[in-house]
Amino acid sequence: MYLNELDNFHFDLPDLGTAPQVAVPNAAPDELDLSALPLPASSSPIGNVDAPQIGSLSAADEELFRGVIAKYFSDEVPSASSSGKADDVQAEKKNCLLKDNGFGIGIPETDIVRNLHYDEADTMNTEEIRKQFPILHQKVNGHDLVWFDNGATTQKPLRVIDGLSDFYKTDYSNIHRGAHTLAARSTDQYEGAREKVARFINAPAKENILFVRGTTEGINLVAQTFGRKFLEKGDNVIVSTLDHHANIVPWQQMCKLQGAELRAIPIDKNGDLILSELEQLITPHTKFISVGHVNNTFGTINDVESIIRTAHSHNIPVLIDGAQSIAHTKVDVQRLDCDFFVFSGHKIYGPSGIGVVYGKKEWLEQLPPWQGGGNMIKDVTIEHTEFNAPPARFEAGTPNIADAIGLGYALDFVQSVGIHNIERHEHDLTEYARQQISRIPGITIMGNPKKRVSVISLDIPGIPAPQVGQMLDKEGIAVRAGHHCAQPALRALGYEMSVRPTFAVYNTKEEVDRFVIALQKIAADVQKR
Ligand SMILES: Cc1ncc(COP(=O)(O)O)c(C=O)c1O
Repeated sequence: MYLNELDNFHFDLPDLGTAPQVAVPNAAPDELDLSALPLPASSSPIGNVDAPQIGSLSAADEELFRGVIAKYFSDEVPSASSSGKADDVQAEKKNCLLKDNGFGIGIPETDIVRNLHYDEADTMNTEEIRKQFPILHQKVNGHDLVWFDNGATTQKPLRVIDGLSDFYKTDYSNIHRGAHTLAARSTDQYEGAREKVARFINAPAKENILFVRGTTEGINLVAQTFGRKFLEKGDNVIVSTLDHHANIVPWQQMCKLQGAELRAIPIDKNGDLILSELEQLITPHTKFISVGHVNNTFGTINDVESIIRTAHSHNIPVLIDGAQSIAHTKVDVQRLDCDFFVFSGHKIYGPSGIGVVYGKKEWLEQLPPWQGGGNMIKDVTIEHTEFNAPPARFEAGTPNIADAIGLGYALDFVQSVGIHNIERHEHDLTEYARQQISRIPGITIMGNPKKRVSVISLDIPGIPAPQVGQMLDKEGIAVRAGHHCAQPALRALGYEMSVRPTFAVYNTKEEVDRFVIALQKIAADVQKR
């Protein structure tokens, strides 16, 4: 039983966070004594319910309500098969290829399921997946933690945590240079991780993969090396208004340095890029286009295929910032035909401090070194250095060995669940959340992009976003509240900040319900002021 099954239901909830916590025992819906539930002077994961409102419920609504309450205070996880599906849907699903993904889950692999109701479409065993993430199983401010800050960073599965720990316990060494066993083992694993990344994004070879600290460093690497070699006075570079500061500032700096101009593809009020303007922005002096794949504030999936096609028709290379797409949708760099693709490990269940630049061979071979030092050289005299071939040319010094290996484990995890299954699960959670939030008076969902991932930005007029973030934290719910390093995007829609929940593989519909109820309370409080 979820909130969407309670039509016309309204909770009038007193202050969150200020009230004492009340322990409510597990109970079957029909055993539950509503009068024993926390009333206005207390706070619980479902908030508080005024006795007069309970009294005014119809018998049917009261039964539904009991179900909701029992669900919040029980450990029961709904199974996909308990939803009362229509026969024809069942028949469709039987026709689908069922693939066991290692979590004991039979996954229908056709597009038919994409647009079905949540319970029909999403057969992922989130409970099993959540067991892989120890950090989720804790109380924060007296409540079960709800991690909805996945756009900022994702939590790590045991495969990554244990993999890193085992590596440090048994194999750790510096790489490439040692003649001993541990150096060989570490080198194998580091280079093995490079291979895993190449396979994950379908790069032609592991030599197309550079390890860096993250998306930010990756974009700086390309902007600095490409800019120094190819940008001249009077040239221009195109980014987009939807982009993260990480894809704006490095190009802005490089343009200033070289006397070039930075241009931006504009956005409409839905948070979609106005791609019809791209052709007008391009001139014979456009040297590079660098755009985000997925926007981190409205969740817009940009039509990067079309941007790349247009750019290539003018012989302009393209970098795709994949920080927000890599964990949420299938990335195939050869199919995209992008020249560079950049992402961070920590956004895809891997460690922080590790990231990836994919580059086409012809570009990596043309670009000058990024930083100078060990590992990137073939031969050094006092007068001259002969540089290594890519990828070593771009990896000066001792790299982040363990976290590259950890990223490999994270990609193993994602592959074991299946990126399409993750995408479908998150899509359903997002549409469910949007639907529930849009029913709350006094809350605006920013933008309405045509294609989107699991990001929602909210405004509650009359209360600053950071304060909403703090109130949600008192309920154990972690969201981002601020400008998300996307000030041009927010400002284009008339905002300075937003409250931003973002969903990942381990999030559940129950968590969305808790979030919605807390929001409803906050919005109601603001309206009373
Ligand atoms: C779209 C986008 N690009 C770039 C970045 C920067 O990533 P990192 O801080 O891992 O370098 C982020 C981080 O939130 C992002 O969302």
